[in-house]
Amino acid sequence: MVPRHVAVIMDGNGRWAKQRFLPRVAGHQRGVEALREVVKSCRELGIEYLTVFAFSSENWRRPADEVTFLMQLFLKMLEREVSKLHENNIRLKIIGDRSRFDDTLIQRIEQAEQLTAGNAALTLTVAANYGGRWDIMQAMQAMLREHPELSAGFDEAALEPYLSMNYAPEPDLFIRTGGEQRISNFLLWQLAYAELYFTDTLWPAFDRAALDLAIASYQQRERRFGRTSEQLTEGTAGA
Ligand code: IPE
Ligand code: IPE
Ligand code: MG
Repeated sequence: MVPRHVAVIMDGNGRWAKQRFLPRVAGHQRGVEALREVVKSCRELGIEYLTVFAFSSENWRRPADEVTFLMQLFLKMLEREVSKLHENNIRLKIIGDRSRFDDTLIQRIEQAEQLTAGNAALTLTVAANYGGRWDIMQAMQAMLREHPELSAGFDEAALEPYLSMNYAPEPDLFIRTGGEQRISNFLLWQLAYAELYFTDTLWPAFDRAALDLAIASYQQRERRFGRTSEQLTEGTAGA
């Protein structure tokens, strides 16, 4: 079975560029092409949700010119790619704290989400100025604003509707390119039971063959969700 939801940390753009004696930003530019290819492949494979980490809440710590370049690239992507996504029946969602974005970017994000809201072939979520801790905090604040009485106590099910990815099932497969084996404050809550896959391939070089390898690895895994292997094979696993 292909995973329903794949979440990706697209890492290694800078190193890809450095290996070629190019400026880091050239790696980000090639990274966009890799993303385009992976979106197409996911759609072909019948994956329902693809979520990609484009900019973390910690990435503001980078040199100002790189941050500016990334923001401009994001805006350009929205302006150029959204109509193509729409033609391909792809729904676009952006998660993260928008308050630090400029007005034009915020407007484009809203327009893109509205235009593609009814599309059903694939949901592409771009995490921008996103942090897993921020997500949990903003969810708690929003929940308590609406339901002050819950300050006395609440359960997971009460919080979940307020998390950024309330429209999607949890990721089945998590991929990080670029060789690092860490979560870097990506979807902390939602990755609780994702299968983790790490590859040394740098993001700009991550192609269909690389995606197929990740999916093949996923298909070898036994997802037990706390049960024993015997329970799964005997088919006696209760809820
Ligand atoms: C990932 O590539 C893209 C972003 C974080 C925006 P990097 O820019 O982190 O590339 P490396 O890790 O320095 O190679
Ligand atoms: C994680 O990559 C964020 C994105 C890919 C957008 P980083 O390159 O920022 O992560 P660290 O700093 O190596 O953990
Ligand atoms: Mg990196």
